[in-house]
Amino acid sequence: MASSWNGLSFVSAKESYTTLITVLAVTILWTLWSVSGYFRHRNRMPLPPGSFGLPFIGQTIEYVLAMRTADGIRQWMQKQVDKHGPIFRYRFIGYPVVIMDQPEGNKFIFQSEGTSNHIFWPSQMFSLMGRHALTVQTGERHKLVRRYLTRYFDRNAMSRYIRGVNRNAMRHFTNHWQGKEQLAGLDMTNLYTFSTICNLAMSLEEGPQMDKFLEEFLAWTKGLFCFPINLPGFQFYRALKARSVILEVIEGLMEQRRKEIAEDRVPEVKQTDILHSLLTVPDGEGNLFPDPFIKENLLLLLITGFDTSGGILAMTIYYIAKNPSVYKEILKEQKSILEGKRESGTDENELTMEDISAMKYTWNVIQETLRLHPVLVGTYRKTVTDLEYKGYYIPKGWLLSWNNQHSHYNPKYFKDPLKFDPSRWETRPTPFTYLPFGGGPHTCLGNEFARMSMLIFIYHLVQNYSWSLVDPSYDGPFIRDPVARTPDRVSIIVKQIVAS
Ligand code: HEM
Repeated sequence: MASSWNGLSFVSAKESYTTLITVLAVTILWTLWSVSGYFRHRNRMPLPPGSFGLPFIGQTIEYVLAMRTADGIRQWMQKQVDKHGPIFRYRFIGYPVVIMDQPEGNKFIFQSEGTSNHIFWPSQMFSLMGRHALTVQTGERHKLVRRYLTRYFDRNAMSRYIRGVNRNAMRHFTNHWQGKEQLAGLDMTNLYTFSTICNLAMSLEEGPQMDKFLEEFLAWTKGLFCFPINLPGFQFYRALKARSVILEVIEGLMEQRRKEIAEDRVPEVKQTDILHSLLTVPDGEGNLFPDPFIKENLLLLLITGFDTSGGILAMTIYYIAKNPSVYKEILKEQKSILEGKRESGTDENELTMEDISAMKYTWNVIQETLRLHPVLVGTYRKTVTDLEYKGYYIPKGWLLSWNNQHSHYNPKYFKDPLKFDPSRWETRPTPFTYLPFGGGPHTCLGNEFARMSMLIFIYHLVQNYSWSLVDPSYDGPFIRDPVARTPDRVSIIVKQIVAS
């Protein structure tokens, strides 16, 4: 005790008091400042309307359940808009989310990405994608990787790929459609788009290895819209297992290719695939990418590249079957392309970029399918500053969601919105109301590739087959799995057209 009376320890005690009081004062001032800031904003501007529901869970359950069908999510969105107006808040897996109005809110999000917001994915997405995938990158890193990967998906790249995609489409119909009476349309379109992207990315050909690979990818996609419970028996657990298998297969292909490169015996066809380029062409700073980067970005391209276009193609098949006049119009367009080839003496089995541009009506049909059944209804961005938007205060750290559900079905932008009507695409829609491919810096990288590969598929389909739905009266609800489909996976009865 005596030592507590020596000068030194007395000064320390005084200092400790001073420190404690300073810390307390700073804490109180900070708290008052933050709280007053909250009220300052609140006094001036309210938070967007809506409710957060139960702590953490919020509206997660009702949202996930609504996402199970195309009608479910459309109706959920409409209900919220009717109740709260076009800008509203809710809570999803713990995060406060603001759905922005459309089109202005969508435009605001895309144009302010990188300054007041950046891309955000829930943690389950990171577990499924990995931290190297393009889509989870932000800021300068995203720009660098995106610039690098764009070379595989710009218009120039499409003219390099068209021949291979066309060959793949012809092979697909010969191998899987010829002689068949009934088919599950969705399984066929997924098989086609998967083999197309596997071929482009890694020169992987159809066969047992690809079939096994496809099974794993389908299990992976089911992990996207489920509860992230990593326990045996749950979808998310199965999806993570699928991810490991997929990465192992990619790793095997990388090893094999490195060996071929080292021994200078890479077959010519493989020298133009994405894997080859990723292994041999340095990034903008002169470095080769590390293995985890290559693996996770190939995984991303394969995932984004198949069941998106595959699902849309299946639903296009559905709508064409439901609308004989649409079938007739597409057939007319595609036949005139074929006849043009015959007249000019060019190979009728080869397609050119000019042919793709001439498929205007067919593209309108696909656009209409994308409007009614967008693969993604919206994605998230996280605010990195406090925001004021249309009289509302949106705090830093909240999520903003661009969304296409309210505008795609809004009679103000699309007359009679629930009707399948390709003729509406004769005029352009209001900017930022039609968003099947998202927007801003993270807009879909593969939309040109998707367009080209879907049009090539339809070209061969209508020239060689007619079809009807196994259940012609089916009119919904459409299951989202995660892309919209009929319960019977768009089952069709097919008939081969004998060439005249
Ligand atoms: C009908 C087919 C497709 C649809 C509807 C579609 C839709 C989308 C959407 C909505 C996004 C998110 C955009 C955002 O958050 O703002 C996206 C991103 C992306 N898509 Fe697609 N997609 C399709 C086909 C493809 C294909 C064929 C590929 C590649 C082979 C591809 C590659 C990507 C990539 C890499 C991203 C991430 C871009 C980034 O974060 O920078 N997509 N897609």
